Amino acid sequence: MSSRIPLPYSPKIIELFKHPKNLGPLEDATIVAKAGSPACGDMIHLYLKIEKKNGEDIIVKATFESYGCAANIAAASILTELVKGLSLKDAWKISWKDVADKLGGLPPIKYHCSILAVGALKRAIRGYYKKIGIRPEWLPDELTVDEKQALEEEEMIEKIYGPMMKSLSEKK
Ligand code: FES
Repeated sequence: MSSRIPLPYSPKIIELFKHPKNLGPLEDATIVAKAGSPACGDMIHLYLKIEKKNGEDIIVKATFESYGCAANIAAASILTELVKGLSLKDAWKISWKDVADKLGGLPPIKYHCSILAVGALKRAIRGYYKKIGIRPEWLPDELTVDEKQALEEEEMIEKIYGPMMKSLSEKK
């Protein structure tokens, strides 16, 4: 029998972990963004299909691939549901706390799972405008707190797991 104490996941997290929505790559994605680090496997790819409607950039489809934990899968899954049909301007306002709330809360040790998911969303939005060569007035020049947090998480993952993965690959 395992001596590990199970994390207090909400029923929503368990449900989305078992039956994630919008899972898999999107063939006709307009933009793909990733967040996380391949060093430990905590990675998410977010695919967005964006179309112009009435002068706004609307997310018409969103899917994800996750190589993270149950909380990361659930966060990415609910994020794809949240952004579907939103303009990029409105999707930009989603924070990792909004995602965590929609999941019925996250254990503090799992906050970074939501931070990475929202980090990928922000990168996708920035990536899209970079690709089309414009910057709308609502998109800040400077990185936002959520984006900085995603970067910090990635640096931490690299610091913790990078040397371990390197030494493992050297032993092969
Ligand atoms: Fe790293 Fe969840 S994505 S613990």
